Amino acid sequence: MNAKSTPELDALLEQARQAAQHSYSPYSEFRVGAALRLTNGEIVTGTNVENISYSLTICAERCALVKAVSQFGPQIRIEAAAVANLNNAASPPCGACRQMLAEFILPDAPVIFPAADGIHTMTFAELLPLAFDMKLK
Ligand code: THU
Repeated sequence: MNAKSTPELDALLEQARQAAQHSYSPYSEFRVGAALRLTNGEIVTGTNVENISYSLTICAERCALVKAVSQFGPQIRIEAAAVANLNNAASPPCGACRQMLAEFILPDAPVIFPAADGIHTMTFAELLPLAFDMKLK
C-alpha cells in the first residue's frame, strides 16, 4: 500500500495491541485496540466496548477518538493511526469509524492495520476517499 511502514508506526501498532488487552467483548470475543498519534505528540488509545444490545457497541477507533477530543480538545489533529486485534484476523477500521475519524485526521496520515494478507499501511485519504462532507459542492 502507498504509505510506508516505519518503526514509529510499528510502535503505534504495538500500543494498539496493548490497548486491545482491555477489550470488553463478551459477545463477539473479537478484541480490538486502536492508537492515535496526535500532532501535539500525544498518543491516545482505545478499545472496543460491547453492549448486550449489540448496536450500542463502540469500536476501538471511535473510543480512542472521543478520548482524544475529551482529553485534549476539539482542535486536535491525528497524524497517524493504528488498529490491531488479538484474534489474528483482519480488522481494517469500519465505515462508521472512518467517517468519525475524517473529522480530525489529516488526509495524509498513515493508517496501519491487519488485512487478510498481512499488515497494511494506507493514507487516510486512500481508506476513505469520499467522506460525507456538506462542503463538497
Ligand atoms: N470493531 C472495532 O472495534 N473496530 C472496527 O473497526 C470494527 C469492529 C469491534 C466492534 C465489535 O465489538 C467487534 O469488533 C466485532 O464486530
